[in-house]
Amino acid sequence: MDNDRPLKILYLSAEVVPFAKTGGLADVAGSLPKAIHSLGHDIRVAMPRYGRIDPLKFDLKEVLPPFPIPMDRQTEEVSVLQGQLAPEIPVYLVENTKYYDRDGIYMYPDDAERFILFCRSALEMTHRLDWRPDVIHCNDWHTAIVPNWLKTVYHDDPFFAHTASVYTIHNLAYQGVFGYRVLEIAGIAEYGFMYHPEMADLAEVVDFMARGIYFADAINTVSETYAREILTPECGEKLDPILRDRSDRLFGIVNGIDYEVMNPATDPYIARTFDADHLDLRVNNKLALQQEAGLDVDASVPLTGIVSRLTDQKGFDILGNVIDHLLDLNLQVVVLGTGDPHYHEMFSRLSQTYPGRAVVFLTFNAALAQKIYAGSDMFLMPSRFEPCGLGQMLAMRYGSVPIVRSTGGLADTVCDWDPRTGVGNGFSFERYDRWALFAAIVRALENYRYPETWRKLQVNGMTADFSWQASARKYVELYRRAMSNQTSERTVQAEASAEQ
Ligand code: GLC
Repeated sequence: MDNDRPLKILYLSAEVVPFAKTGGLADVAGSLPKAIHSLGHDIRVAMPRYGRIDPLKFDLKEVLPPFPIPMDRQTEEVSVLQGQLAPEIPVYLVENTKYYDRDGIYMYPDDAERFILFCRSALEMTHRLDWRPDVIHCNDWHTAIVPNWLKTVYHDDPFFAHTASVYTIHNLAYQGVFGYRVLEIAGIAEYGFMYHPEMADLAEVVDFMARGIYFADAINTVSETYAREILTPECGEKLDPILRDRSDRLFGIVNGIDYEVMNPATDPYIARTFDADHLDLRVNNKLALQQEAGLDVDASVPLTGIVSRLTDQKGFDILGNVIDHLLDLNLQVVVLGTGDPHYHEMFSRLSQTYPGRAVVFLTFNAALAQKIYAGSDMFLMPSRFEPCGLGQMLAMRYGSVPIVRSTGGLADTVCDWDPRTGVGNGFSFERYDRWALFAAIVRALENYRYPETWRKLQVNGMTADFSWQASARKYVELYRRAMSNQTSERTVQAEASAEQ
């Protein structure tokens, strides 16, 4: 095979910045394709056209008028609109009023059907556009059915005879588990449930994530450490047996961040732009943030930022257990995010109890997020588990020093400060325990008292490379590996049937 040939890649995601976002998946889907395109490949993105995506705002144009998609022994009509991620990167938005014209993105009772329809439409769309992908890159459970289809209903379709699949696990905790009916809806009932000697559940439910892992030609997660962690029963979310079976084709590729959009030297949202050589200017952002957020305006008080989904994964239970002790120290906290009502209450109580010192914004707001990265001194991510985590990298890019639990991608990107060598870009702790977190924060506060030390920590973070450059190359290698796995599997099958 020609190893330098530019590839055609169809990138499938349920959410893509700037069109729709609930979490880090959307950031990745909005930035990785640009980096892959810059390596010379024809990558195109597809997602559903949710009701909130305004066709006028994004200048969407219809590229395919309504056409039928097989669904549950009938057909469903969809059309396809086209927008752009960048001038040469089309984004195809699958339109269907019944399934997507709603306020939100997920959490509907018919989510399985909604994403089955989206995936099937994306495959059928490539046919109609006569654009044959070398690789279909699927992300998380919403698009995990595609590798399954390529090996079943589309197996004998000549159009996809040389199409390989790659499956990226962004978060093993969300698997998409449904009942038998979805096999009928997806047109694969004749193949039945999956069987695995160590996973009895699979004979009774349809787990989309498990199917992606089982059928894809290559698999990856979003950091090397998480790729190792999920092979264990502790972190495997019950899928570790199947992941161990597939470990020969499972890799870890750490996410990058969008260096163009997220740049403190050009960011239009922040009060004062700056870079590693002009760190003195940064304090203006802290003062502006304190002012805007309603915190006491004081440059000397250490300001801690949190920008996150407010869920158990992110370690807010251990934080909740020590936060009052923390606020007894000289420190301010600003929180931005949405999630479980339980954490909404916890943080709201804090801002009422500690006016001027703790403040919470229960929403998502990109501009405010950037002001927090640029204005906070420290950035907190005490995650229970973290496949990659983007907040810590964004914080470092903007000179805010991360305090993290050493797990998954946090372990791969944050290096604990060592005062003897001057190496390190943050503070990390191992045990998932409130006092371990408390000790890491106290250590950070101690170091904050020494401006020289602190500056070194900031510069170490700001000058590290968290761009997509290196990781995009690894994805291209993964694509080629998936293609060669697909080809050899086909060859083995052809030889076997010739012998019969
Ligand atoms: C999920 C993970 C997060 C990761 C992101 C993008 O949101 O929880 O760790 O950074 O996906 O891959």
